[in-house]
Amino acid sequence: MKGIILAGGKGTRLQPLTKITSKQLLPVYNQPMIYYPLQTLLKAGIREIMIIVAPENAGDYLNFLGSGRQFGAKFTFEVQDEPKGLPQAFEIADNFIDDDDVALILGDNIFSHDFSANVQSFKSGAKVFAKKVEDPERFGVVELDDSQKPLRIVEKPVEKISDYALVGFYIYDNRVVELAKSLKPSARGETEIVDLHNWYLNKGELEVEKIEGEWFDAGTFDSLLKASNFMASRR
Ligand code: TTP
Repeated sequence: MKGIILAGGKGTRLQPLTKITSKQLLPVYNQPMIYYPLQTLLKAGIREIMIIVAPENAGDYLNFLGSGRQFGAKFTFEVQDEPKGLPQAFEIADNFIDDDDVALILGDNIFSHDFSANVQSFKSGAKVFAKKVEDPERFGVVELDDSQKPLRIVEKPVEKISDYALVGFYIYDNRVVELAKSLKPSARGETEIVDLHNWYLNKGELEVEKIEGEWFDAGTFDSLLKASNFMASRR
């Protein structure tokens, strides 16, 4: 399975810090943020990794991460000229993914969960992960039936449908590449990952697994501080 770390974006919610460097290079306790999603992929056994970055600080990523050899992996870098949505990762990574399955992790998502069993047992369709949160309205939220089958996914729901947010780690079969290319941008001018999930959901091929452990979407000042404190407390 191939892996992608999506580490572009604008990071507007972390300004003025992100006027100096990109969000995923900011410190989370004692490491640049991107180190954590990278470790998550490596721990899951994924060794061929594409890192997608914004143009502004692309050189800093190359400088910090290098070829991947020191991590026992192989890194490939690509630039996303403009943040046009998460599914664009699969268009950018088309040749890199080739005929393989692919795991996508967001560059500002920090997990303590070990995904290796999920990666190893993956066969086809799409597999996404849900975590109980106190503020589901900030995320894509999934409603599950009694047997944990997904009923529907709603992006930033205004009316509460469940406490389970979809986290920024996703596994797809190879069909995701053509599917991503076929998506139309939403009203905010970006393609939406929920459209990928609904495509698999409508075919009965979307699996959702609840995860325990810590999860941080470190894109706000509060979550960045919480993530740093968590990492400090683990030492
Ligand atoms: P977001 O946090 O949704 O966006 P952002 O990083 O631009 O931040 P803000 O909303 O504060 O402006 O993005 C989640 C992750 O996905 C983050 O690591 C950036 C990445 N991303 C891209 O690399 N390209 C994109 O087109 C989008 C939408 C996000």
